[in-house]
Amino acid sequence: MEKKVTKIAVLTSGGDAPGMNAAIRAVVRTGNYYGMEVYGSMRGYQGLIDDDIFRMENRSVANIIQRGGTILKTARCKEFYEPEGRKKAYDTLKKRGINGLVIIGGDGSFRGAGKFSQEFDIPCIGLAGTIDKDIAGTDFTIGFDTAVNTAVEAIDKIRDTADAHDRLFIIEVMGRDAGYIALHSGIATGAEHILIPERKTDIDHVIDSLLEKEKRKKLVNMIVVAEGDGFGGAEEVARHVKQKLPNADTRVCVLGHIQRGGSPSCLDRLIASRMGYHAVECLMEGRYNVFVGIQNNKMHYIPLQNAVKAKGKISDEWMKIVKILAS
Ligand code: F6P
Repeated sequence: MEKKVTKIAVLTSGGDAPGMNAAIRAVVRTGNYYGMEVYGSMRGYQGLIDDDIFRMENRSVANIIQRGGTILKTARCKEFYEPEGRKKAYDTLKKRGINGLVIIGGDGSFRGAGKFSQEFDIPCIGLAGTIDKDIAGTDFTIGFDTAVNTAVEAIDKIRDTADAHDRLFIIEVMGRDAGYIALHSGIATGAEHILIPERKTDIDHVIDSLLEKEKRKKLVNMIVVAEGDGFGGAEEVARHVKQKLPNADTRVCVLGHIQRGGSPSCLDRLIASRMGYHAVECLMEGRYNVFVGIQNNKMHYIPLQNAVKAKGKISDEWMKIVKILAS
């Protein structure tokens, strides 16, 4: 493990996130700057298992900083969850003489990397990349800012048509386990209610508040629902609302995967570039088996073994702000 890292592979794993390409670019160019040989693994850990790996020069990452998706493609690799899969991946790396690995992904990808780094002598560095922002220990994840801005742009448009027709819109945004996209986009678009997995949805309270608004002729209302909210998502909320408020002209809009695509925002490009650079620095300095996050605008290194989903971290103050501003 003390040997100098000279050949590294980079991969993207889990759900894609805008800014992953900027992170790949930063890893490749910083690695090359320090005289390392840099390789790309296709489809995350699967590329390691199948030996689907190719050499990346500085030119390989030209013209990608502004592109969504990931040029290395991504996958949720079931085989890597198993010890046999991880052994295959190790054999590929050993055969090629690759002695450092950079993983751009979420907490699940980091847990895989954590196991891998305990079992084998390949140092791993993770970069926090997920639109959900649900990794503990970092203020930012690559992709979140772009996804939220996509959601905001869409919800603003929905408000225009809602306003024209005096309608109630129930909008579902991504976030299977985390309400950050819902909370941020909901506050930024003036949503009347925001329903998230971190809080128990009090549907009766939502209905009462809509009834009260109906009485004072406030008919344009927006409810932003995270896909993983405990009540069952936008369709379920709408079904309930329609029963209790038959007069409300209600529509549902599920934003879905458009939130995962698109050109990354300036912020996502910046944090991806910083994290990618620091991932290689970690390998240079012997700071192994950590993932790179940002806290209070400073780089923050968390052991891969400690990578956990950030759950229930939404403060009551945020919920109070939603309530007060939506009256
Ligand atoms: O990447 C995170 C995420 O977008 C979640 O918000 C969402 O629940 C999930 O991925 C969807 O995954 P898939 O694209 O595999 O359906």
